[in-house]
Amino acid sequence: MSTRPRTPGPNTPAPGKLPITELAELKARRQPIVMVTAYDAPSGRLADEAGVDLILVGDSAAMTVLGHDSTVPASMEEMIVLTRAVTRGSHRPLVVADMPFGSFQVSDADAVANAIRFVKEAGADAVKLEGAGPSLSRVTAIVGAGIPVMGHIGLTPQSATALGGFKAQGRTADHARRLVDDARALEAAGCFSLVLEAVPVPVADEITRRLTIPTIGIGAGAVTDGQVLVWHDLLGLYDGRSPRFVKRYADLATTIRDAVAAYADDVREGHFPEEVHTYGMSDEERDAFRAAVGHGQLEHRREHRERGHDHARQE
Ligand code: KIV
Repeated sequence: MSTRPRTPGPNTPAPGKLPITELAELKARRQPIVMVTAYDAPSGRLADEAGVDLILVGDSAAMTVLGHDSTVPASMEEMIVLTRAVTRGSHRPLVVADMPFGSFQVSDADAVANAIRFVKEAGADAVKLEGAGPSLSRVTAIVGAGIPVMGHIGLTPQSATALGGFKAQGRTADHARRLVDDARALEAAGCFSLVLEAVPVPVADEITRRLTIPTIGIGAGAVTDGQVLVWHDLLGLYDGRSPRFVKRYADLATTIRDAVAAYADDVREGHFPEEVHTYGMSDEERDAFRAAVGHGQLEHRREHRERGHDHARQE
């Protein structure tokens, strides 16, 4: 038998990685689970250093980093590149790759093939997909392939048009009851946790109590087992309108804009770079270099040219 370490993956966690089973234990101990989105290696590293449990490479990237006005245009290729960057930068948190619109809707086989790409090509620990109903068989198929799946119900941005826009879900008794059924069905299909987005607190509370898997809320109140926020919302980096459930912990857009403006001023006013930002060379090497490139002759020619012009002007 080979003694070489196995390639880390969903069944062989890398050393130091949070075991996925720990999430259920956190729920049992009523210890809140912390998830944040990230889209590149530096944000993955900072989220890891800040001690989060889960990083979601959300398809919100389409809006926050790719400049689209919805999550729908995010492609598999883009999500693979972003997820790969996050897994390069982070080590302990579980990295969940969000399956973009079109990557799981067509068939179970497609969904499994794309989930496998996230694990093999991007190093993801798990995937997330939106919806219940037709998504249930996708969850079963992906879990059957050995890849953990996080569900996502309530406001599911990929189907925002069908839901009547970016608005809270489950606000009538009937709709709320259907959300409870969906949540239970996703647990039965094999999800290891479930995102609840923009649902009233009593609905999130009921779902959280009924499920053994942890719920992660965004706009679902403090009753869920964990919380998730979008990186750009949390840090004040997103210029668009933020939903009411966002809490902004910093105003990095202002910090960054001020820093770049200060740099631009320095360059234009000749204050940057200073001597401390430059590389020198010995006098001897400098003189040899200048002799080699005919520096003196150049100077001489320039002076000569300038004098010629002066003469011409005087005449
Ligand atoms: O894409 C995303 O960032 C998400 C979170 C809002 C849960 O799905």
